[in-house]
Amino acid sequence: MKNVGRNRGCVVTGVAGFVGSHLAEKLLSLGHRVVGIDNFFSGYPENMASFKDHPAFTFYDTSIAEEGLLEWISGRHSGLSYCFHLAAIVSVPYSMDHEEETTKINYDATLKLLQSAEKLRFSRLVFAGSAAEYGNDQRLPLLETYADEKTRHLSPYGQAKFMASRAVASNPIGVALRFFNIYGPRQDPRSPYSGVISRFLDMALANKVLTIFGDGHQARDFVYVSDVVEAYIRAAGLNDTGPSVPNGVYNVGTGKSTTILELAETIKDLTGNALPLNFCRERPGDIRFSLASVDAFSGAAHWVPRISLRAGLRETLHWVRRDSV
Ligand SMILES: NC(=O)c1ccc[n+]([C@@H]2O[C@H](COP(=O)([O-])OP(=O)(O)OC[C@H]3O[C@@H](n4cnc5c(N)ncnc54)[C@H](O)[C@@H]3O)[C@@H](O)[C@H]2O)c1
Repeated sequence: MKNVGRNRGCVVTGVAGFVGSHLAEKLLSLGHRVVGIDNFFSGYPENMASFKDHPAFTFYDTSIAEEGLLEWISGRHSGLSYCFHLAAIVSVPYSMDHEEETTKINYDATLKLLQSAEKLRFSRLVFAGSAAEYGNDQRLPLLETYADEKTRHLSPYGQAKFMASRAVASNPIGVALRFFNIYGPRQDPRSPYSGVISRFLDMALANKVLTIFGDGHQARDFVYVSDVVEAYIRAAGLNDTGPSVPNGVYNVGTGKSTTILELAETIKDLTGNALPLNFCRERPGDIRFSLASVDAFSGAAHWVPRISLRAGLRETLHWVRRDSV
């Protein structure tokens, strides 16, 4: 058993976002210090409500694209050695209309952070990659090696994430985690681009009909946010048990496929929404099936997703309900 100790200095970019806020909360609860960065492009101050006054937390409202950002922060906070880089333009449709900006934030800024982290002798930079890096590859389950030069990316978002993951994974301090569909409390239901789970929960609770694009047999790999946070902790080597993860790129999903129809029925069941489903025309460009092979990360990190879809949905539902009171 290794003993990583407490009081490690961590930088979390995208800390006001859905996943970043959960990660910061966990790192603080483990006794580490967290410097959070966000410019509220798609995040919210209220996501940080539970830890914003924690004595081991400092927040900077700034963009990751700022020149010399990590050097500047390291000059103010001693002993920073882990960078969890989650800040990004996360909306695929937005990236279609803003290609240059997406490349600047999701790729260029990542490269700069990586170079700075290496120069400053950080132990690790863990990057938030995405299943979008696979384009519409239908060889399922998706292996990490399937995303390569020949992959036809469907958006500037996918393209930039792929380039950034590749750069991170080839650096000795870098681990890129390719996340599939993450869900859980604090996922933004207000965003027009929010994931299917937050949209369905919102509609179901408002006693509205759930609309499915296509026949509902399209499938996704949904992974609960606490399992994602555990993956981050292990990728950084901040866990007391389990091996150190070699640098590289790893899928993070559940390895289980859920159809949109199953998802809708489970949400109807949990919310008591008895209205019939509404089916409308498939959206052009939608990926039919997505499923992760999680063998590489499970093997390297001894990580297993623990939260079932039903349990995760129940937790998310509690949060949505509490939020709407
Ligand atoms: N949620 C998912 O299903 C999913 C799946 C795959 C990958 N990811 C990746 O995980 C990461 C976190 O996603 P999320 O779902 O928490 O999204 P989110 O929008 O809630 O979080 C992203 C955060 O980054 C911040 N940000 C954006 N541009 C910034 C900039 N220039 N400078 C500083 N901060 C900036 C936003 O304000 C936001 O708080 C992202 O990199 C995303 O691409 C998420």
